[in-house]
Amino acid sequence: MGVDVAVTNLTKSFGKQLIWKGVTLTLPAGEVSVMLGPSGTGKSVFLKALIGLIKPDEGSIVIEGTDIASCSEKELYEIRKLFGVLFQDGAMFGSMNLYDNVAFPLREHTRKGESEIRDIVMEKMDLVGLLGAEMKLPGEISGGMRKRAGLARALVLDPEILLIDEPDSGLDPVRTSFINQLFIDLNAQIDATFLIVTHDIHSVRIVPDNIGLLYHKHLAMYGPREMLLSSDTPVVRQFLNAQTVGPIGMSEEKDADQLAAEKDMDLPPIPPIPLQLEPSNGIPRRSQREPGAWCRENGVIPPKGSFTKEAEHSSGSQQH
Ligand SMILES: Nc1ncnc2c1ncn2[C@@H]1O[C@H](COP(=O)(O)OP(=O)(O)OP(=O)(O)O)[C@@H](O)[C@H]1O
Ligand SMILES: [Mg+2]
Repeated sequence: MGVDVAVTNLTKSFGKQLIWKGVTLTLPAGEVSVMLGPSGTGKSVFLKALIGLIKPDEGSIVIEGTDIASCSEKELYEIRKLFGVLFQDGAMFGSMNLYDNVAFPLREHTRKGESEIRDIVMEKMDLVGLLGAEMKLPGEISGGMRKRAGLARALVLDPEILLIDEPDSGLDPVRTSFINQLFIDLNAQIDATFLIVTHDIHSVRIVPDNIGLLYHKHLAMYGPREMLLSSDTPVVRQFLNAQTVGPIGMSEEKDADQLAAEKDMDLPPIPPIPLQLEPSNGIPRRSQREPGAWCRENGVIPPKGSFTKEAEHSSGSQQH
């Protein structure tokens, strides 16, 4: 289970506004990848391109031999069955209760009877901690509950590819930890290929196998977690450690004077790389690698204290 998603040279503009150019990456089958980037850099647009809701201007997105960017509507309809998607705003039907919202993909894409549908819906509602709220309308629940209901809906078709846009926005820290654990447990269980968009740098440090950063209309870096978590490339280091010093400013990029003024500032050291979150169900991660293997193979000395239990609690957020 789980399939590769191979993106090559993807470019998208809306009118004269270039969103990103030349994005090339492969989401490896069954691995968990995270996409980061300042607000407005086109992360949500990227997810929508992956399921064919937005057509790129150039490039290809190949899944099991089909290019989503150029295939027919019929092929797209078939390939969409592989996906579970949680949109940033939850995208629930406002006039349907949660039960009907979650049941919707099953009624639309399968021939299952109502009693089987009921079992699946209740199982997923339980998984996201929403049992008892089935009859509520999306407008009657909190933002975090809507997110979790959207997640339940994304899971009902047992997807091969899960695209999840900011699962943690509007969630309290405890529920964020539960959701992170749920992703890792699910990934171990169903082996789906995950792409998660998040701004939560603590999650970024422990959840994914791979990390990407969209910045300044291109993919600044994408690769195994150890590559980015040990990187001293200014924009990667700034973003992953939530620092004000670096090329990213409050609005767009900093100007030359601002950057020159920062030139002699000492940056805090790169925090230790924590161990990855392990599945709670005892099944290993599909892509389990020995901690530090990437660093060793690439001659990179990991930050001091990496891959220890203590490093798990370093959030990476250091104010400067
Ligand atoms: N359908 C559309 N038509 C025109 N412009 C769009 C459309 N969808 C998105 N955009 C523009 O594309 C840019 C990127 O938007 P996107 O929502 O992908 O950003 P993001 O990285 O997800 O930001 P955030 O972190 O705030 O969610 C924005 O400038 C947005 O206005
Ligand atoms: Mg977004």
